[in-house]
Amino acid sequence: MRVLVTGGLGFIGSHTVVSLISNGYDVVIVDDLSNSKLSVLDRLETICGKSIDFEQINLLDYNSLDQVFFKYAIDFVIHFAAFKAVGESQEKPLEYYQNNLVSLINVLNCMRKHSVFKIVFSSSACVYGTPDSCPIPETADIRPQNVYGRTKAVCESILQDTSAAISEFSVALLRYFNPIGAHESGLIGEDPNGIPNNLMPYITQVAAGKRELLTVYGNDYPTPDGTGVRDYIHVCDLADGHVAVLKKLENNTGVFIYNLGCGRGYSVLEVIHAFEEVNHVNVNYAIGPRRSGDSAVCFSNPAKANKELGWYAKHDIKDMCRDSWRWECYARDHEV
Ligand code: UD1
Repeated sequence: MRVLVTGGLGFIGSHTVVSLISNGYDVVIVDDLSNSKLSVLDRLETICGKSIDFEQINLLDYNSLDQVFFKYAIDFVIHFAAFKAVGESQEKPLEYYQNNLVSLINVLNCMRKHSVFKIVFSSSACVYGTPDSCPIPETADIRPQNVYGRTKAVCESILQDTSAAISEFSVALLRYFNPIGAHESGLIGEDPNGIPNNLMPYITQVAAGKRELLTVYGNDYPTPDGTGVRDYIHVCDLADGHVAVLKKLENNTGVFIYNLGCGRGYSVLEVIHAFEEVNHVNVNYAIGPRRSGDSAVCFSNPAKANKELGWYAKHDIKDMCRDSWRWECYARDHEV
């Protein structure tokens, strides 16, 4: 079975490629290298012990994508490639809608043309916006609060409408909570361009001395220690969720929606302290004002994925902190 992985050199995509290959799938990666590096491919080949097909293509270029579908016999598509910076999405809504929606539409048009009907879409917990209560089930209201989240929600609708109209389609919408951690080899991990937006890459860069100070965005939330609570999930667990859902798509048509999270939350301070304890390093931080758009608490109810896919997050917060740090040290030592 051959899986086309768009955005396969990115953070979640690269870890999913490892999971796919170790579960016996063939892979072809499509990536335009706009937010990833070609060296990830070499490191993936080292981890997997084999060469991996790669096509450098921008998904807005329909004809090039069409050629990929001619070249390879594709059974499944896992679509990761998208713009993903929340702050930037507010400043560049047209770029975000154009890129994230048109890429998906091109993928779906190619799939229909080449009779490939099984697709996994990389969605996000941010489609829920600020939840009324936690844990969040898949049935919670969809009301994203930023442009990035709205592109994900519109893509979900495009996929649902396509599946409703073309009955052969099998669609999985995977709503990720907060992926952190890295492959245990330390060879791949999150590699943000410029100043990180997310907590864990900021922590690792402060610990590594690349940045001076982590600002904790608010300590006056209604949470036990006042800092924001999130459902962090090890990226390798998340990657395994994609392999688990392929089996579901193999035998079923229609749309399947799953939260991928651990089902419990950690506060910002808990993450910082776990990181310091596990790695024996200091993280220099200071409390600052809240970041606009942040909610106090966000964590999943992953029971549906547990029950229907037999998938569980296996790694705990210590594993996530240890593996994130191992990757940061590799990236620093090898000037990745
Ligand atoms: C963010 C995005 C979300 C996206 C997710 C991907 C926003 C508003 N939301 O979620 O749409 O799906 O990343 O992982 O950007 N924090 C600090 N200091 C920092 C960075 C973060 O205190 O320098 C805090 C935040 O206030 C939050 C927690 O750490 O409480 C996690 O933040 P982050 O990693 O950015 O993830 P989310 O905000 O949950």
